[in-house]
Amino acid sequence: MLYGQNERIARKEDDDMQKLAIEGGKILNGELAVHGAKNSALPLLAACVLARGETVLHNCPRLSDVFAACRILSQLGCKCQRNGSTVAVNTDGLVNFDVPDELMREMRSSIVFLGAILGRLGKCRLSFPGGCELGPRPIDMHIAALKRMGAVIHEEYGILDCTVPKGLSGAKITLPFPSVGATENIMLAAVLAKGETVIHNAAREPEISDLADFLNACGAKIKGCGTDRITIQGVAELHGCEFAVMPDRIVAATYLAAAAITGGEIRVTHVRPQDLDSVLPVFEQMGCSVYAYGASVYLSAKKPLKAVKNIRTMPYPGFPTDAQAIVMAVLCKARGTSVIVETIFENRFRQIDELCRMGADAKAEGKVAIIDGVKTLYGATVRATDLRGGACLVLAGLAAQGQTIVESVKLIDRGYESIEDSLNAAGAKILRIG
Ligand code: EPZ
Repeated sequence: MLYGQNERIARKEDDDMQKLAIEGGKILNGELAVHGAKNSALPLLAACVLARGETVLHNCPRLSDVFAACRILSQLGCKCQRNGSTVAVNTDGLVNFDVPDELMREMRSSIVFLGAILGRLGKCRLSFPGGCELGPRPIDMHIAALKRMGAVIHEEYGILDCTVPKGLSGAKITLPFPSVGATENIMLAAVLAKGETVIHNAAREPEISDLADFLNACGAKIKGCGTDRITIQGVAELHGCEFAVMPDRIVAATYLAAAAITGGEIRVTHVRPQDLDSVLPVFEQMGCSVYAYGASVYLSAKKPLKAVKNIRTMPYPGFPTDAQAIVMAVLCKARGTSVIVETIFENRFRQIDELCRMGADAKAEGKVAIIDGVKTLYGATVRATDLRGGACLVLAGLAAQGQTIVESVKLIDRGYESIEDSLNAAGAKILRIG
């Protein structure tokens, strides 16, 4: 399937109206396979720009954000064809260096294309990525790092005009915060730069290692991923390769949370349990039985859930901010008072107002959320506030008395392949309407 204007217009019109009708009270049991990671697939698709010829990505999740990234590749002149969860990208036709505003607005993480386009073509024009539901999403660290590597970046009327008059050169870069996106953009700009780049205080997320493994399979020379010091030796060119996207650790956590909140038992497969090392203990503190073996994780919630007092989101290997709303849903039904501190984003508690419409007893005081577990959640009409906040409301709906309608499902579709089909396969009763 090729990506074009008509496909996008048709898709957008019906997306806005879609809702999920969830009949609560079902206990979820079963085995669910986890799809590829959105937060790896997106930088990997951008990284394809750097490689000559054809690259094939397997286990690429079928998500609206991935489709948006494919449209950006097509706009650049690449041939981008998707067949199920395999995406083939051929850059022989790469000719454009600009990403139009409408495509940039579809997905703020498109900023990761900046490093890749600059690295391959030496120039790039794209609009400043807007903020998103989580608050302003600054890119100061991205810009500062690329300038240290020789990029000249003019920003006017929201447009970033980037050139590299003397080419990109390796540099020593210390990030003030281990930003995932900034680390990725520096890696993408550094692989074809002249000389060595060292990133200090680099992000350590598994998605960073997935990107490094991909780039090295294309001929790059990257060492140290997974640590806070990454070294990249620039090479002359990169060739295409065949690569499988890592599993989505947040989707895995979401499916496990569905068993936890409904008192069921679920085995997630096609996962890397080690990526969940900071999440599984939280389920255990709630009183769930959790077993990780091979490429599976099993969770059983046969006992009443207990509150957890000390959850603090942190850069990897700390508790992931993307799982914060997911565990918050479960804690709404846990006995006692739970406390969650959100240290990464400044506006990531927006799901609380919607949860309270369902009878939850939760409140946010700045970076701190306090959740007093309740015996019963009640079905209501609620609206997804952002991707993970939307998943949170679906989880709450599974455990609520009566029917819950979750609106703005398109936000959930950004990160979950048909969340209703997956959960229905484990015994949920969810209908997509509109
Ligand atoms: C990535 O976002 C993920 N998105 C996010 O997942 C995830 O929550 C986040 O990393 C943290 O793990 C993708 O990978 C596509 P950051 P990113 O740069 O790269 C501030 C989801 O739900 N910052 O590590 O944007 C920033 O404002 C999404 O799947 C600056 O101040 O995250 C934020 O407060 C949501 N200046 C913090 O750092 C910068 O130049 C972390 O941002 C860059 C970031």
